[in-house]
Order: sequence, then C-alpha cells, then structure tokens
Amino acid sequence: MDFIHQLLSIIFPLLTTLLLLFFLPPYLLFKLLSYIFRSFCPENVAGKVVLITGASSGIGEHLAYEYARKGARLALVARREDRLGEVADKSRRLGSPDVLIIPADVSKPEHCKVFIDKAVDYFGCLDHLVSNAAVVQLSMFQDVTQISDFHRVMSTNFWGSVHGAHFAVPHLRKNKGKIIAIASIAGFMPLPKHCFYSAAKAALISFYEVLRVEFGSEIGITIVIPGLIYTDMVLQHAYSSEIQTGFLPGQSAERCAKSIVASACRGDTYLTQPAWYRTFWMFKMLCPELLDSICLLLLIGKPRSAKKTS
Ligand SMILES: NC(=O)c1ccc[n+]([C@@H]2O[C@H](COP(=O)([O-])OP(=O)(O)OC[C@H]3O[C@@H](n4cnc5c(N)ncnc54)[C@H](OP(=O)(O)O)[C@@H]3O)[C@@H](O)[C@H]2O)c1
Repeated sequence: MDFIHQLLSIIFPLLTTLLLLFFLPPYLLFKLLSYIFRSFCPENVAGKVVLITGASSGIGEHLAYEYARKGARLALVARREDRLGEVADKSRRLGSPDVLIIPADVSKPEHCKVFIDKAVDYFGCLDHLVSNAAVVQLSMFQDVTQISDFHRVMSTNFWGSVHGAHFAVPHLRKNKGKIIAIASIAGFMPLPKHCFYSAAKAALISFYEVLRVEFGSEIGITIVIPGLIYTDMVLQHAYSSEIQTGFLPGQSAERCAKSIVASACRGDTYLTQPAWYRTFWMFKMLCPELLDSICLLLLIGKPRSAKKTS
C-alpha cells in the first residue's frame, strides 16, 4: 500500500499539471463568458424579501441601503433597536417599499428562530438571507486567561450564522432563494491576535462551501471575503490600538455593500472585496511562509502582548 501512495505522489501531481494545462484555458473562458452573461442578466430584487443580520451599522447598514435602492423589502436584524430604526427610515427614503426591524441577538438560537419566523410571518416569504452580524475580539493566544471569554466570537460569528441558516433554509428553498455569507480574509490569512475570529470565519467558509454542494441549484450561496473595510469594527480604538492597518488600503462600507449586492444578484459563488486582496490566496497556496511574514506586519509598532498594554 505504501508503494502505491509513493507512486501516486509522483504521478498524480504530474498528471494534474498536464491536465490543468489543457483544462484551464477553456475553463477560464467558460467562467468569463458566464460572468458576462450573469452581469447582463442579474436577479431583479425589486419586491423581494431580504433579511440582513447586523444591519445596524457598517457593511450591514449599507447593504440595507443598496437593497433598498433596488426596491427590495427588508427585514433588519441587530441588537441596537434605535440604530435599526434609523437605518429603516433611510432605507424607506431610498426606495424600499416595506421595512421590518427585528431587535435580536444572533448568538441566541431562540432569537434566530424568532427573527426568521417574524420576517416570514410578516412578508409571507424569504428570498435572500444576508448573514453578516459579527464581533471581533483581539488577543494573542498566550495572553488568554479564560477561553470562555472568547466564546461569544464563535457563538456570534459562526453559530449565529448557522442557526439563522437552519431556520431560513425551508423558506429559501421554496423561492429558490440565496444565502449571502459575510466571511473575512481572516478566514484564510493567519492574522495575529485574531485566532478566535479567524477560526470562526474559516469555519463559516467551510460550512457554506459544504452547503453549496448539498443544495446544488436549490439555494444559491455567495461567500463574501471582505478585506479591510472602514467600519466601526476596525476604526474603534480597541482595534486600531492593537493592530497596524496603516499599510493596507481599505475600502468604504458603501462601496463594499454595492459590490456585495451586485455579486449576490449575479449569483457569484465567491466575492473578495477589494478584489486585489484575492492575490493573498496565491501567496497562501504557493508560498505560505511569505504570507505568515506579511501578516506579522500587523504587529509593527503595536503591543505584542496584553501585559505590555496594561
Ligand atoms: N470591517 C472589516 O474590515 C471587515 C473585514 C472582514 C470581514 N468583515 C465582516 O463584515 C461583517 C460586518 O462587519 P462590519 O465591519 O460592518 O462591523 P460593524 O459595523 O461592527 O457591524 C457589525 C454588526 O453586527 C451586529 N452584531 C454584532 N453582534 C451581534 C449579535 N450578537 N446579534 C445581532 N447582531 C449583532 C452589530 O449590531 P448590534 O451591535 O446593534 O447588535 C452590527 O450591526 C462582519 O461579518 C465582519 O466580520 C468586516
């Protein structure tokens, strides 16, 4: 058996390289043509029902405005009711025919059931679920004293999305709907101080990749991989005092949300924003050690342990 594996270890990469040489050109051409076709015939979301979690600020807030401009009916979910009210008012002014706000905490499974049920009871159906709510909590792993202090990262960023999807799927299936999962570049880049956040986002990417295979054409899944986007999450002092982001050009939440809605309407499988951040995938595949070094730049001039900051 060992001999077979040793033989395959030599033959398989060679065969694959040869096959790729023949397969890649027509495959890339097909992808380009499909992209052009989908760009000219995107889904029209006017009147459709879109539920957005984490809609009270940042990317989620601007997703609400972008869907509103396209005439979608909106269910907006987050914990801060007052902020949701302001986003709902602006969404109506921008063109949404109906907006429902549902204050809820996605880290609580019972809340996830309630917000999906409320949206479907009110609108009668669900077309897009945008799973966007998340929190970030930074620390070098060596400085963590209680792992349980970080459970909320997983329960919001991963389990919150899983529970929402679980209750939404029967409704999305009826309408051949879509899930737009907002992951992060941290899901594949080893960003220091982000160990729990990165783990939750990596789990999220894998989870939705499996669902995409399981659902086939029944429910479309767009996995969004934002890079640095200027929102409260990264502009707050607790983040900027721990992480060096000065060397990375970021993007506005408004621009990012525009691209996300366009991508969802095209039915893309993945979207990376800004697009040039996709290059980091190549580093990951071809020279991961170099990517590790690039990620260390985030610590330049910043405290390397909690002890130094206190
Ligand atoms: N900004 C970036 O550079 C960046 C990069 C990569 C990925 N992302 C991802 O983009 C998404 C949006 O983040 P953002 O940058 O727009 O940050 P943000 O402005 O902090 O927005 C986060 C949203 O999630 C909501 N939220 C947090 N915990 C929640 C909970 N337990 N239940 C319900 N809602 C909750 C917040 O509302 P309440 O506080 O009112 O509940 C808020 O509306 C997240 O998935 C984030 O991981 C952001």
